[in-house]
Amino acid sequence: MKYLVVLLLLLVPVVVFVGYELDNRDIKNGRILYKQQCASCHGTNLEGQPNWQRIGPDGIFPAPPHDASGHTWHHDTRFLFDYTKRGGKALLEARGVTVAKSGMPGFGNALADDEIHDILAYIRSTWPERIQNIQAGRNPGQKR
Ligand code: HEC
Repeated sequence: MKYLVVLLLLLVPVVVFVGYELDNRDIKNGRILYKQQCASCHGTNLEGQPNWQRIGPDGIFPAPPHDASGHTWHHDTRFLFDYTKRGGKALLEARGVTVAKSGMPGFGNALADDEIHDILAYIRSTWPERIQNIQAGRNPGQKR
């Protein structure tokens, strides 16, 4: 019994720290920052650019939508965060993708880490609950 109490006490901090990264974010701030930094390419209503699935003559994909019709929710939060912070070029190179150039700039200098998370939380808040839950489930080690 004594061991059980000790064990439970040890578990408490773990549960607190393993929160889902996009919970309890400032969604209002994320919305404002999205309009300022992302909407010019990804669309005011997160609709993306036309024909976003087809690579352009310049070897660059148009910006994909961030609403539920796109593939943003197919990715785990770490990937979305890194893609936004470091930009597509660095991420594609790191994964050995050479067929496409990237049109996605890195925002590591323009935005703080918390601001990037606020933006991602805003994007996520526009998805239906079912899709929010699927995306949350793609984050190993992060409990909801
Ligand atoms: C100059 C245009 C441009 C701006 C501004 C821009 N993006 Fe992108 N983004 C792109 C393009 C183009 C892609 C497609 C992939 C590529 O080219 O690397 C992309 C891809 C992405 C992806 C990976 C694909 C996905 O949906 O999972 C994420 C995440 C992303 N952008 C987030 C953001 C966020 C957040 C902002 C604002 C802070 C932003 N982008 C601003 C052009 C832009």
